[in-house]
Amino acid sequence: MPSPVIVLGIESSCDETAASVLVDGVVRSNVVASQDVHRQWGGVVPELASRAHQEHIVPVVDQALNEAGVAGKDLSAVAFTQGPGLIGALLVGTCFARSYAQALGKPLVAVDHMQAHVLAHFIQDGEDRAVPTFPFINLTVSGGHSLIVLVRSPLDMEVIGTTLDDAAGEAFDKGAKVLGLPYPGGPLIDLHSRTGDPRTYKLPSPNIEGFNMSFSGVKTAFNNIVRRGLLQDPDFVVQELPHLCASLQQCIIDILLRKVHKAGRTLGIPRITMSGGVSANAALRDQLKQLGEREGWQVWIPPFAYCTDNGAMIAMAGHFQFLAGRTAPLDVVPHAR
Ligand code: KG4
Ligand code: ZN
Repeated sequence: MPSPVIVLGIESSCDETAASVLVDGVVRSNVVASQDVHRQWGGVVPELASRAHQEHIVPVVDQALNEAGVAGKDLSAVAFTQGPGLIGALLVGTCFARSYAQALGKPLVAVDHMQAHVLAHFIQDGEDRAVPTFPFINLTVSGGHSLIVLVRSPLDMEVIGTTLDDAAGEAFDKGAKVLGLPYPGGPLIDLHSRTGDPRTYKLPSPNIEGFNMSFSGVKTAFNNIVRRGLLQDPDFVVQELPHLCASLQQCIIDILLRKVHKAGRTLGIPRITMSGGVSANAALRDQLKQLGEREGWQVWIPPFAYCTDNGAMIAMAGHFQFLAGRTAPLDVVPHAR
């Protein structure tokens, strides 16, 4: 194996064009261009996302290499997100990575976005942070997924629980939309919740088998509360905003942590990690840590920059795959699902 291992990671699965360079697993650059074009539409518009990725991908990769002080010829491999995600968005990253790897004569590594979220825990950036020990249980919570994963090694993961309908991030975003908040609503719900009382509005807690979850009933109940409130008082949302946000947020957190608790106890694995955009949520982070303290479990939550979509996690996954010899052919195609 070449030493050091230098991996470029490219992410384009949704509404973030991101690139990062990792040298032996240590971040040298982590560039993210977010797409503001979606805000006015209340959600990601796939066509606009593809177009924005096309505009951003060359400057973002260029900046990542420059900041890292690395030339294309120094790379050990080019890693990119193969899926899941929006097909048009994935195509931009895939085509770029294929061409770039071919032009440089470098190995190409196709990365699963969800595995990369889990492997974000292994990114090193000079801060003294312990990495999780195997096996561990991971809660991945993003705009498209809510998963409970049994992680046996960097390349051996098993999904043991998933949402049956909406993802946790979607539940946040759809709830925010009902309140008239712009997309993505998750961070705004987090913010407004800080001054609200989560016990104000009662929302249903679904009883789903095993480690699976459901958020659609919560969404419907929340919609109904807001609709009924507005019928009685047109200022209902303005006056109740913090309490509405806190109640919704707490209900989503309860659903997630109940399943994490069950997984930890059932599998007898006292190590829990959390990843994905929703793991940026302050109350969720606090309550997962509290759960860990109560149960005597170790808990790992990556720094904010590695929670939401980023290139470093793709490079990290690419690093492990490259070391295991798992490279992709130059005609590799993206997978939306
Ligand atoms: O992982 P991610 O960046 O992209 C996907 O792969 O989906 O996750 C984005 C999701 C969005 O639904 C967003 O609202 C949510 O993460 N999110 C949050 C917070 N920050 C981002 N949800 C709740 N609280 C936050 N602080
Ligand atoms: Zn993601």
